[in-house]
Formats: sequence, C-alpha cells, structure tokens
Amino acid sequence: MRKNLVIAIDGPSGAGKSTLGRMLARALNLLYLDTGSMYRAVALAVQESSISASDDLGVASLAERVAIDLVGDPDSLHVMLEGRDVTDQLRSDEVTHLSSLVSSIPAVRRAMVARQRELGKRGAVLNGRDIGTVVFPDADVKFFLTAVPQARAERRYHEDRAQDPDANFEETFADMIARDDRDSSRADSPLAVAADAIVVDSTGLTIAEVFQKMMAAISPETANE
Ligand code: DC
Repeated sequence: MRKNLVIAIDGPSGAGKSTLGRMLARALNLLYLDTGSMYRAVALAVQESSISASDDLGVASLAERVAIDLVGDPDSLHVMLEGRDVTDQLRSDEVTHLSSLVSSIPAVRRAMVARQRELGKRGAVLNGRDIGTVVFPDADVKFFLTAVPQARAERRYHEDRAQDPDANFEETFADMIARDDRDSSRADSPLAVAADAIVVDSTGLTIAEVFQKMMAAISPETANE
C-alpha cells in the first residue's frame, strides 16, 4: 500500500466519522487524526484560562502556542494538552459548545490546519469538517459521511447517556442542530461537501455495511500502487 495515502472524512456530527475513521485507519495501517479533538482541546484550554471565548485575538494566540498532541493507536487515541492527558474532559457539553465557537475563529483554524497538514502528510485518515475542502484538497479519497438528523441525534444521545443518565433526547437533538448550523454557516471553512467527495449516507446501515462501502471506494486507490 502507498505510504502517504490521505483519506478525508468530513460530515456533520453523529454521522459515524470517528468510528469509521478508526476502522479505516486500522485496516489500512494509517495514522488516525480526529481533528475535532484538536478544536476541543483548544476549547478546554480556553475554558481553563481567563480568556473569554468571544476574545478572538486572545483565543487565537492561545491556540497558536498551546501544545496539543494526539497519541496512541486509532482505538485508543489520547489527546494531550500541554503534556496532560485530557481525553476524558473533551466530551462535556460545555467543551462541545465552546469547540464550535472557537473553531469559527480564522486564526484558530489556521493554527490547527498547519498542524494537521504536518501530522497527516505522511499518510493518515483524518476526520473533521474541512479536510477534503481545505486541509487536504488533494486527498486521495474524500468521503462526506452523513445521515438524517434523527439518526445522528440518536447516536449522540446514546453516547451522552453513557456519561449522563439524565441526558435528554430533545436537548441533544437541539444542540446538535444548532452546532451543525453554526459549523455549516461560518465564513471560514464551513462544513461543505467537496466537489470530488463520495457522499455516504449511513442512515439505516450497519457500521459494517458503511465500512464495506468505504473500503470498496478506497481499494482502487491502494491497488494503483
Ligand atoms: O467532530 P467534533 O464534534 O469533535 O468537532 C468539534 C467541533 O470542532 C465542531 O463543532 C466543529 C469543529 N471542527 C471544525 O470546525 N473543523 C474540523 N476539521 C473538525 C471539527
């Protein structure tokens, strides 16, 4: 297999990007980069600082200097912030909300995109919102993974419930729609389908079925080498 194969997976939240990204990275023996966790780490750094999320310059300067590392294999990816393992702190409602706000700041995006290009250039599966459109416009294979909002919110709700038994489906649904709207309507690198992306709708499909579809689309690329 070609060593520097770059596979982009973009799409709204709850479509299955992380699960499928991990599976593909493992199957293809590639690095797995969950770029959303980088924006979440910036959000946590903001939360722990005295900087207000609406202070674009302050947030950007923090994003530029803070050390964020993704370590471990696809199945147990750990996110390190200034050398501290913060993986378990990145899924709270507050960090989730804040990550969508900080990711709309252009200078924050520039700092993260530069890191993502550096980390991914020797081959990786990257998931996010702008991988196929901005980070790696020449990616070997681009997927836009989506599902109907009800199915995506159900997935998110099951994840939320695992952490918080009082999680409420209506709230999860409303938060998800608001975040996807913000991620899709921001001026800089909004969530969008790249012209050459393969759109995969995971509604009603099992993870194994989606995986098969994606592998089938990737195999001509790997066979070329
Ligand atoms: O994929 P996620 O839910 O962990 O992403 C967290 C937030 O970061 C989400 O609101 C959108 C943003 N994000 C982004 O703007 N660009 C990316 N490449 C990845 C995530």
